Amino acid sequence: MKVFIIGVNGFIGNALARRIVRETDSSVVGIDLEKDRLDAELLNHPRFEFFHGDITVSREWVEFQIKRCDVVIPLAAVAIPKIYIENPLLVFELDFLENLRIIQTVAKYGKYLMFPSTSEVYGMVHDTVFDEETTNFVLGPIQKHRWIYSCAKQLLDRVIHAYGLQRGLPYTIFRPFNWVGPGLDRMDELKIGNSRVVTQFISDIVFNRPIHLVEGGQQRRTLLYLDDGIDGLLRVLLHHQDTAKNQIFNLGNPANEISMRGLAELLVELYAKSPRAAQRPFTAGLRECTGEEYYGQGYQDVTYRRPSIEKAKKLLAWTPRYGLHDTLSMTMEWFLANVQHWEGTPRDKSIKVVNPS
Ligand code: UGA
Repeated sequence: MKVFIIGVNGFIGNALARRIVRETDSSVVGIDLEKDRLDAELLNHPRFEFFHGDITVSREWVEFQIKRCDVVIPLAAVAIPKIYIENPLLVFELDFLENLRIIQTVAKYGKYLMFPSTSEVYGMVHDTVFDEETTNFVLGPIQKHRWIYSCAKQLLDRVIHAYGLQRGLPYTIFRPFNWVGPGLDRMDELKIGNSRVVTQFISDIVFNRPIHLVEGGQQRRTLLYLDDGIDGLLRVLLHHQDTAKNQIFNLGNPANEISMRGLAELLVELYAKSPRAAQRPFTAGLRECTGEEYYGQGYQDVTYRRPSIEKAKKLLAWTPRYGLHDTLSMTMEWFLANVQHWEGTPRDKSIKVVNPS
């Protein structure tokens, strides 16, 4: 089987490509703007092909690859809340329009689509757990443009479902719930808020900057370790012709729930045990701020987000293995092992808070 991964250098893409060539006999063709996360083992693998390119420019090439492949996994998208606030049109153009084109091309050639939806589609709903079949989607008003990402993904999910219904498109939609692990965001791109929370907190701690707790840090998230998520995707690939076909799966770990304050405290504790902490202890502390101060106007938060994973357990025989402590210590270890890449970068010195509290 040939799998086409669009955005292969990303957090999920590079880990997935590596595991596909290592653990299956499928081949992978990948496109991305950069290849810095692709190691030599992957780049030199006989069943891996990499193309440097921009999908918004190389549309004919993308179409050609879709024609050559069996399964298409379009992972190129913005997935960082700060960017939903600062550049909602980028989210519309890349996450929605470009991905819509890809979905339509996959449907045109009758290929299999594995599409990344998001936990964000559920929005601010208050069901105890979020279920793929029964939970409603609850989004804020238009002025809260944080929701453009959720809304774009929701419409794409609906378009895919409709293509399945009316034109026979075979697909699986998966919804990652706060996946974390090695390679999650880049610390060298960090301004405050420009990465997801675990990278932001780790970077605050290792560079001894105050950790900002938005709205006091009472919000809760469930964290899934990257390897568990990739296991889920490999199981979707394995079952794409049977139990995974035309299904939507939440992929998250409801057992790994933690408040953002609890997360900050746990990461501080883990860091204190590292050799670096003896030289550079974390003393900057925790600081509370509002969502608007931190992200700017147009932000609205999600109080909690807890997946039901019963469907993935039943149809994919998938269960996450890593608990919260292991998930965070392995993620922290990876950042500490790579911290020299970011130490003293100009961006590290130029960090600004939107509205210092
Ligand atoms: C994320 C992103 O939208 C996507 O990565 C993805 O689709 C989805 O959720 C997911 O991974 O499931 P969210 O969890 O709200 O959304 O984003 P984070 O940046 O990771 O923030 C988590 C929580 O931490 C939020 O309540 C935020 O306000 C808070 N936070 C973030 C802080 O308190 N301090 C910070 O410095 C950063």
